[in-house]
Amino acid sequence: MTEKPTFYITTPIYYPSDKLHIGHAYTTVAADAMTRYKRQRGYDAYFLTGTDEHGLKIQQRAAEAGQPPQEFVDGIVAGIKQLWQLLNIDYSDFIRTTESRHEQVVQRLFQKIYDQGDIYKSEYSGWYCMPCETFFTEHQLAEGHVCPDCGRPVQLAQEESYFFKMSKYADQWLKFIEDNPDFIQPDTRRNEMINFVKQGLEDLCVSRTTFDWGIKVPFDSKHVVYVWFDALVNYISALGVDSDDDSKYQKYWPADVHLMAKDIIRFHSIIWPIILMAAGLPLPKKVVAHGWLLMQDGKMSKSKGNVVDPVVLAEKYGVDAIRFFLLREMAYGMDANYSEEALVNCINIDLANDYGNLLSRTTAMIEKFLGGEVAPGSEGTEFDAVLWELAAQTPANMAKYMDKLDIANAIAEIWKLVGKANKYIDDTAPWALNKNGETEKLKTVMYNLAEVLRQVTILISPVMPNVAAKVWQQLGLDAATAGQDWEALAWGGFPAGTKIQRGEALFPRIDWEKQLAEENEGAAEESAAAEEPMAEIAPIKPEISIEDFERIDLRVCQVVACEKVKKADKLLQLTVKLGNEERTVVSGIAQYYQPDELVGRQVVLVANLKPAKLRGIESRGMILAASDGDKLQVLQVPAEILPGSIVR
Ligand code: MSP
Repeated sequence: MTEKPTFYITTPIYYPSDKLHIGHAYTTVAADAMTRYKRQRGYDAYFLTGTDEHGLKIQQRAAEAGQPPQEFVDGIVAGIKQLWQLLNIDYSDFIRTTESRHEQVVQRLFQKIYDQGDIYKSEYSGWYCMPCETFFTEHQLAEGHVCPDCGRPVQLAQEESYFFKMSKYADQWLKFIEDNPDFIQPDTRRNEMINFVKQGLEDLCVSRTTFDWGIKVPFDSKHVVYVWFDALVNYISALGVDSDDDSKYQKYWPADVHLMAKDIIRFHSIIWPIILMAAGLPLPKKVVAHGWLLMQDGKMSKSKGNVVDPVVLAEKYGVDAIRFFLLREMAYGMDANYSEEALVNCINIDLANDYGNLLSRTTAMIEKFLGGEVAPGSEGTEFDAVLWELAAQTPANMAKYMDKLDIANAIAEIWKLVGKANKYIDDTAPWALNKNGETEKLKTVMYNLAEVLRQVTILISPVMPNVAAKVWQQLGLDAATAGQDWEALAWGGFPAGTKIQRGEALFPRIDWEKQLAEENEGAAEESAAAEEPMAEIAPIKPEISIEDFERIDLRVCQVVACEKVKKADKLLQLTVKLGNEERTVVSGIAQYYQPDELVGRQVVLVANLKPAKLRGIESRGMILAASDGDKLQVLQVPAEILPGSIVR
């Protein structure tokens, strides 16, 4: 027997969050549908997902919850697995970065790259976005001195770190992309990545010392491995690379597809391949980025907030409908707007009107006109050939899109056949054939419709895995008689002589206006209290001792001069006076203050902060300011306190 071809697909591994939303679910649903599709086509498909559990953010959230980090993540991961089960996600393996099978591989890889001289120790100074776990240089920050990816405030990071010599591999990477033009998909993303690398690839900071919830650097236990270096390795650690049993690695690596949203394409298409190049391992075949599912912004009331929770949606509308909507709605590589109304429209139009109606009209007529029996007649109609032709072409038309992970267009191809079958009912008018006693033609028409329904159901079942069983029941079939794989798609597979069994509507229509009115009534009492403005509270950082705090020297100082830093939108250069001493401080507050406004004010300075060079100017200390995201105010001290005084 010949071995089946393999197909290895991955999703990103998720940060443990008990609030995974419908956008997160998109990637797993898409990867699951791809896996099921490949299995239908005879592949040995392997689907990996998991969780990305290290890093400062998790350490802080665990501290906030009063739990050890491991215990904290264990609870959340259990919830994530439940969510995937609910959404019918049939993954082959679930990797957690806190498992020893993963940690060992990360450490060995780090050691290997260090031993060959591609990881070296140096000093990191720059900006860090904790929610994104990403380092940025000053000029990469967005307006307002915030993270260019998520728009949240960044922190100054200045510490001894290990660096990975990414720069050394830039040419090799560019050559690889030139030789493998389909590696990064869609093309727009590939061009972005090429431009990014051509602008000059900097070495990557790959270790941290300011927290310890991570994988220890094997030769320097003061350091933990940077979360992204740690996380990316999951794609091979889960396969047992370099372990006693590496059979899965041998079988499935290199991955056929790493699937993710566009925000993390840089990590997957540049950093990850370069790690693999340095390690001398084969590169994945494709990295595919889909767009974002954008949530309705504006104020979210508690009840509205629940609407984007996949658990609530699945309970309300059914898992298959949610999966179908997600995959149908998000055009390849593009963003899509989420709204519950769009979901309801999709259920009403695509599922209830088109597909559900095709089933109910067909079964109703078979029952009424033919006593419930499906069998082709000896005569046909002039409309048959067109229907057969489209049915014969649809699998290939669909596969063309599916194979490049354009699931929305693949579904659209199946729906062309659904549409054609509905039109075929109108064209052939079975009620008229019945009335005129044209029974042989009538039998053929009804057989053709039942057969199209069988084909459509097989084709759509990777997207809606539960729907087939319901349709088979109504058509008098089961998985074995209907067939499940592509081989079963040959025309005429519907067993002649089958007795159908009409059932309830596959997807009942939803009265959106009525539902909305009922929900609004219930939510009306959710009162003004919830509307009160409040700053989003960032998690409280882990406890420190009073000695730790005393290491920070805070001083009152007076701003004696202030000017904009040339060619930097966000920076002001301040001259501040503390007692007899004057010093220069560069601060990212130009967005909020005109230079003149600050002169004469008494502000608070972190006086013993290690000096840093910003735009070539040495900044000695940092001015304290409070920000709630949109607004920013520097902290001020009244004039009766003399400059140089200690703040405690
Ligand atoms: N832990 C990293 C990934 C490491 S992979 C080596 C991470 N995790 S995440 O939980 O923040 O997001 C994981 C993935 O969820 C995103 O890449 C994306 O695939 C998906 N999405 C999160 N929000 C999304 C939308 N609003 N829309 C579509 N996909 C979204 O990043």
